[in-house]
Amino acid sequence: MGSQLFRTKSIDRLIADSEDPERRLRKTLGVLALTALGVGAIIGTGIFILTGTAAAGEVVQDASLLKAPLLDVLLHGKAAVSVMGRPGAGPAIALSFFGVAMVCALAGLCYAELASMIPIAGSAYTYTYATLGELVAWIIGWDLILEYAVSNMAVAVGFSAYVDSLLQSFGIHLPAALATPAYTPQGGWHLNFNLPGFIVVMLLTWLLVKGIKESAEANSIMVGVKLVAICIFIFAAAKYIQPANWKPFMPNGWQGVLTGGSIVFFTYIGFDSVSTAAEECKNPKRDLPLGILFSLLICAVFYVTVAIVLTGIQPYKIFLGDAAPVATALKNIGLDSVQRVVTVGALTGMISSLLVFQLGQARVWFAMSRDGLLPRTFSKVHPRYRTPYVATWVAGIFVGIPAGIFDIGTLADLSNIGTLFAFVLVSISVLVLRRTQPDRPRSFRVPMAWLIAPLSVFFCFILMAGLPLENWIRFIVWLAIGLVIYFTYSRKRSQLRDAEASEGQ
Ligand code: ALA
Repeated sequence: MGSQLFRTKSIDRLIADSEDPERRLRKTLGVLALTALGVGAIIGTGIFILTGTAAAGEVVQDASLLKAPLLDVLLHGKAAVSVMGRPGAGPAIALSFFGVAMVCALAGLCYAELASMIPIAGSAYTYTYATLGELVAWIIGWDLILEYAVSNMAVAVGFSAYVDSLLQSFGIHLPAALATPAYTPQGGWHLNFNLPGFIVVMLLTWLLVKGIKESAEANSIMVGVKLVAICIFIFAAAKYIQPANWKPFMPNGWQGVLTGGSIVFFTYIGFDSVSTAAEECKNPKRDLPLGILFSLLICAVFYVTVAIVLTGIQPYKIFLGDAAPVATALKNIGLDSVQRVVTVGALTGMISSLLVFQLGQARVWFAMSRDGLLPRTFSKVHPRYRTPYVATWVAGIFVGIPAGIFDIGTLADLSNIGTLFAFVLVSISVLVLRRTQPDRPRSFRVPMAWLIAPLSVFFCFILMAGLPLENWIRFIVWLAIGLVIYFTYSRKRSQLRDAEASEGQ
């Protein structure tokens, strides 16, 4: 049994399985579509929501050890509660955005090397299956599902709130029973259902089933709209910059920059989903690394610019406790019309983020099912559209129904910890494959891999340690549930186990 847990799936077998005509996906994506998928996933709501609180910090704290970052708990024990209070980055939040982009670039380089070597659906799940073995692969697959699903449940609830407020500005009032989840942390249980959130997830699921090309085209249009909206914000607001607002630039020193970084990490989540579409690329070995790195670069430039402009037009302190800093700043300088443009940008941002995360999630269900670790029916491919339609509907229902029932916005941090954990394993996998398969062709190689990959692991751990203890506990509970499923269901049905058993006979 021990040997099965750590048995790796050979890259040749992974590639052979992906060529099974019954389970082969359509290859249509080029570098532009992949970059657009990356930008589509990365720029969601985070930039419009988190920039303010990360710059201003937080004064009111829940006096509970569970809310303290793990690092504080480890260093100060129970006293972590009293040393809490999150320092803001101030205008230096632009530096936080830059720094986090660098950390993501380290992981992005590692993703790029593996994606160029193993151009198979499933991303980090598939890479770990080829390097660290079945058990770790299961853990990371389960973790990726958490990353994509939880973040989309939160975004679907936020989407509903935006639609509601947009309709209200036209004098249309949706009944609360149809526009809010049944459970909210503030209001408890009610006989409600978040219909807009559910409907948008179902419509996107339908689009994803229709075809990867159609989905990628719709995504590219939405990416265009949101980038134009952000550009309009930047150019319109730049005229109102008062350099005095940038002083002091770093009110809480590097500690503020670091803490701000842990918060805005969420805004970069999503570039990894480019690699889940590996099997649908025309030339994955060249285009996947480019798509991953280009999308990160484009988003970093936009994010740093937005941060510089936002903290330049208003003193950062006014964003304390503000969940809509961009809207507040625009209102304060009298640019209400630009505010409407930003709302459109935020809405399209949410839809494209939802789309690409659903795409990624379905590819992970698909890859795990093809390997026998999840029910085989999940890896059925639509005879006409060549999309993993069962996995796509499963992912849609898995997100749409909870989004209708629960407001799990507070759980969104789980996405951060899940993503960082995936980054760590991907970075380790690069080094393992350099050692175990040094001669296998790699169309992209991480430069100075023995420095870059360990640095990536180190910085990911630093960001993970900056997350509250309660997130660590929830994450461990999620992984424990996954392990129960693995040992009671998946291990016995693994295709790798069957194949090796028959080879051994
Ligand atoms: N990176 C995505 C966002 O900022 C999840 O919304």
